[in-house]
Amino acid sequence: MRTGAVIVAAGSGDRLGAGVPKAFVRAAGLPLVTWSVRAFEDARDVTAIVIVCPPGQEREMSAAIGTHGMVHAIVPGGSSRQRSVAAGIAALPHDVGAILVHDAARPLITPGLVGRLVSRLRLHDAIIAAAPVADTLKRADAQGNVDATVDRAGLWGAQTPQVFRAHVIRSVFATADDAELDSATDCAGMAERRGIGVAMLDPGAPNMKVTTQADLRLVEVLLGSGRIA
Ligand code: CTP
Ligand code: MG
Repeated sequence: MRTGAVIVAAGSGDRLGAGVPKAFVRAAGLPLVTWSVRAFEDARDVTAIVIVCPPGQEREMSAAIGTHGMVHAIVPGGSSRQRSVAAGIAALPHDVGAILVHDAARPLITPGLVGRLVSRLRLHDAIIAAAPVADTLKRADAQGNVDATVDRAGLWGAQTPQVFRAHVIRSVFATADDAELDSATDCAGMAERRGIGVAMLDPGAPNMKVTTQADLRLVEVLLGSGRIA
């Protein structure tokens, strides 16, 4: 299926504290965002990529990623992740049948994972990368002590890519108001609120998000170790 990929890379990366937006930070020799661009270019189904970047840094983004024929547009992001996603979706070509949304902060994405997600759109309106929670979960009290142990049965951690039939995600965003665009933390949550079924696929391999310096060191090791796509 012709698939348009939106890479959201407009965040500032405050928790990483690198002094530049997180997407520009290098890991294993490439800017974080470039790892995702490469994976999408090598994925069977992706026909167009839109990169959403910090407003005013379109030129820096273009220089950071270099020449990639599949990059359809580089557009400025918004004040929340979901506003950035909306800007990216609006800039995609109209002929795509599927829309994939991915965080630039997840550079371990592989073409194989993209292919597995897109192929399952035959069965679902929406499917996201996600993994069952492995740790025992505690709810904290105001002092940061344990208030309770939370049953983790059935709990999964949502990741990206999140893939949707194009008309489905376009209608989700067409009906979102400012409050929802400010508060929602992923596209799947917005779809769920409208009664759209969302399937999950466990990548079965690390697909972590770079949030802190420790995360960055870890993905450097994983990116440098010649993973199998
Ligand atoms: N993002 C975005 N636009 C925003 C906020 C976030 O495009 N207004 C993107 C980020 O670039 C990132 C993804 O959403 O790829 C997930 O966000 P997060 O990991 O929180 O990144 P940052 O917001 O950049 O980091 P921090 O919260 O530490 O500032
Ligand atoms: Mg953030």
